[in-house]
Amino acid sequence: MPSRLAVLASGRGSNLQAIIDHFDNLARERIAKVVLVASNRADSPALIRAATASIDIAHFDTTDDGSMLLELLRKSRIDLVVLAGYLKRIPPKVIREYAGRIINIHPALLPAFGGEGMYGARVHEAVIASGTKETGVTVHLLDDEYDRGPIVAQWRVPVEPSDTADSLAARVLNVEHVVYPRVVEMVAILQQLEAMTSA
Ligand code: GRF
Repeated sequence: MPSRLAVLASGRGSNLQAIIDHFDNLARERIAKVVLVASNRADSPALIRAATASIDIAHFDTTDDGSMLLELLRKSRIDLVVLAGYLKRIPPKVIREYAGRIINIHPALLPAFGGEGMYGARVHEAVIASGTKETGVTVHLLDDEYDRGPIVAQWRVPVEPSDTADSLAARVLNVEHVVYPRVVEMVAILQQLEAMTSA
């Protein structure tokens, strides 16, 4: 049985699309599939992408203690929660129930250029302002501090002297689209192996 993935997204959903496409392309070989896309924003383009792919969608309130999100995840029997441009904090009760089963992608080499408020163009602006010649992509497990959980995978991306925040963001995003679906797949495989071999 394929692992059941929920993707949480607040924005345009290009990583969500890459994940949907990856598992669609694997067809019968796939070991995971996206069964739920949920957003804190009812007008998130990610929800439109999911609906177009005939995946269940949900909009949830983030003003509660996480009960609404938890209920959605339980109802859809989610094995792995994938954050893809999700901009709100995940409440502690959700992190507790899904410990080690929530992953996030960040468009820089954590722990550099991470933390609260570091998202979107701000990350790439800070990278350029710092003068570093290298940035990248980080996939990590979520714990209760922003961008601090154990790192699962990283890939480096060069910063060119002529880069603007936009050109750098585009180069990093292209790498995200290659890395994230494959890391999600790997994490799902490890989860399945663990379930098969734990007493
Ligand atoms: C990506 O750069 C991701 O690293 C970050 O938010 C952005 C989401 O982009 N967490 P998209 O919505 O997947 O296009």
